[in-house]
Amino acid sequence: MHDGSGRIVVQNLSKQFGAVNAVQNLSFTVEPGSVTGFLGPNGAGKTTTLRMLLGLVTPTSGSATINGRPHSQLGNPARVVGSVLENEGFHPGRTARNHLRVYAAAIGVPDRRADEVLGLVGLGSAADRKAGGFSLGMRQRLALATALLGDPQVLVLDEPTNGLDPEGILWLRNFLRSYAREQGRTVLVSSHLLNEVEQLIDQVVIISQGVTRYYGPLEQLRKSQQSRVLVQPADPSALVKALQDNGITGVSPTPDGRVAVAGSTVQQIGDIAAKAGIAVYGMQEDHADLERMFFQLTQGQYTGAPGYPAQGYPPQPQYQGPPQQYQQQYQQGPPSGPQQHQGWGGPQQ
Ligand SMILES: Nc1ncnc2c1ncn2[C@@H]1O[C@H](COP(=O)(O)OP(=O)(O)O)[C@@H](O)[C@H]1O
Ligand SMILES: [Mg+2]
Repeated sequence: MHDGSGRIVVQNLSKQFGAVNAVQNLSFTVEPGSVTGFLGPNGAGKTTTLRMLLGLVTPTSGSATINGRPHSQLGNPARVVGSVLENEGFHPGRTARNHLRVYAAAIGVPDRRADEVLGLVGLGSAADRKAGGFSLGMRQRLALATALLGDPQVLVLDEPTNGLDPEGILWLRNFLRSYAREQGRTVLVSSHLLNEVEQLIDQVVIISQGVTRYYGPLEQLRKSQQSRVLVQPADPSALVKALQDNGITGVSPTPDGRVAVAGSTVQQIGDIAAKAGIAVYGMQEDHADLERMFFQLTQGQYTGAPGYPAQGYPPQPQYQGPPQQYQQQYQQGPPSGPQQHQGWGGPQQ
């Protein structure tokens, strides 16, 4: 019936709502055993894409398949894919357990599965409470429990960190990582906030205005950011010389009298300074770049978005025909990103 792979393949997917191009020619693959973050600002087309994948919206063109099949041809879809979309409603007067039992019956799984999934999402002690009194975070967990009822091979979650407190986000991160990695399942998670999902995703698809801006391993995006170390030495020019003598060339002074060093670690810099007899009063790693790159990649969506300066180090886009805005912004010759990891490539043509 289907290929059983648990793979999600989105291929040249587009959706138009009247004059609005909500999704344009989107392509990506989500492999089993990994968590993919589907990122973009509000209105970027994330929910529309997920709804097409789940058979709730008909694509204008292109396809979205799970196990090689469109959702409508999955047979018993709840056994293949569990999903949580925006604004999932619960009957407010129903207890968590009864809510789950209604859904369990609908998809043909035994009642006891309701208690199993409540335990999985940490709501065991709230089983007899009415969903109407749940906090947003508890509702997110109950929605996830509902998605897990059919013990699906694939999980699709739309903005699951919304409403979760930091502890809830940590819990979700551990849960999804083990669901994907230890159990070999496929997880696709959307978010408009990179920093909320950064810790839990392996691969990332970044979209803006319905168009792919980046697609590839998160690690590659991270590596391409040329993080810097800001050093405060007693003698800046002596440190610059010592670093250059040791083959470290990405060195530049900062307006506040420090030395910015790219492509080197705190330890390497400290060792070189010590050997050269230069006192160092402080070192600071500059980590803001991933977030900044996310804004750079998506800022075209809003005119007047915060002006994050282009650093000239975006990764090479991994899709055909990058949008013009992107090409123009970086046409000054960005350094090549690391080679694309084989096996994470774009969709098979
Ligand atoms: N049913 C609809 N009818 C008309 N426009 C829609 C509909 N659903 C979404 N859109 C529009 O499509 C674009 C993408 O929306 P959406 O997929 O919800 O983005 P996201 O989930 O990334 O915030 C937005 O401009 C939105 O207004
Ligand atoms: Mg959305």
